[in-house]
Amino acid sequence: MTKGSRTPTTGMKRSPITLRPMKMAVQWGKVILQPCNTTLQRRKIVLQPRKTVRQPVKVNGRRICMRCNFCDANAQYRDPHTRRYICLAHSHLQVIARDNGNGTEPLAVRPAASADRDQIAELALYFWGETEVECFGREYDVRHLPAFVACDDGQVIGLASYVVEGDALNLVMLNVLPGYQGRGAGQTLIAAVEQAARACGLSRIVVATSNDDLPALYLYQRCDFRLTNLAAGRLAEHHGGEEPGFAGISVRDEIRLEKQL
Ligand SMILES: CC(C)(COP(=O)(O)OP(=O)(O)OC[C@H]1O[C@@H](n2cnc3c(N)ncnc32)[C@H](O)[C@@H]1OP(=O)(O)O)[C@@H](O)C(=O)NCCC(=O)NCCS
Repeated sequence: MTKGSRTPTTGMKRSPITLRPMKMAVQWGKVILQPCNTTLQRRKIVLQPRKTVRQPVKVNGRRICMRCNFCDANAQYRDPHTRRYICLAHSHLQVIARDNGNGTEPLAVRPAASADRDQIAELALYFWGETEVECFGREYDVRHLPAFVACDDGQVIGLASYVVEGDALNLVMLNVLPGYQGRGAGQTLIAAVEQAARACGLSRIVVATSNDDLPALYLYQRCDFRLTNLAAGRLAEHHGGEEPGFAGISVRDEIRLEKQL
């Protein structure tokens, strides 16, 4: 899904590597590599805000509207340590040692029903500003696509919309509200989509994301997707210029990934 998104799990054995501190400043944020006193297999990426300005605000008392703690933009992520909500511009990456999770209950995922349509539209509007998404050169309206939803107390808090094109399941949109991220909903939604693809006898799942969306690139590769194609400059062309994305990285290119089933 392209608007406007390493840790090896199995396989190769690597020898321990000591990381030395490095800093790389970018326009709005920064990437920090920190020594984690462990092996590469145990590193993971954590998203954190750059500095504290104010507390999170809910708009109209509804959980779907989460403002960044540092500006008025919609939050895209939540800092897992400070629990602060952060927008694209106020996010940056940090590499840390993998721990054993945050101990929260996994979120339930189920196929979307027609009664979920309004909440699906709200989620799409919250993250992307519209319900129509361009994906692999075609426009889709997620209100009319099959989907899986992750729910908390009856509220849709995560969404994976898809469409079948030939022998592939095309993952059109994947979102989890910031307050629910890091609890496995993203991976569970992908697993549900994969199960649907297998049940339909499809041979692969394809997804497109943007060059700046490092959290999504991380997630897909953690789920065994492989990079297949780079459409250089496609998104800048689509948007009529480069826009700031995650951590202020310019949104330029569409990156396509695929998982063979
Ligand atoms: C990408 C996205 C769907 C992931 O959803 P999620 O529910 O957090 O996913 P999971 O809980 O399954 O976590 C996936 C991985 O990301 C990590 N992660 C999630 N949120 C994190 C955070 N705030 N900081 C650090 N790591 C985080 C998880 O720890 C996990 O990694 P691990 O398996 O190595 O532990 C969600 O961040 C999102 O909606 N982002 C904004 C919209 C977007 O970019 N969508 C994708 C467009 S292609």
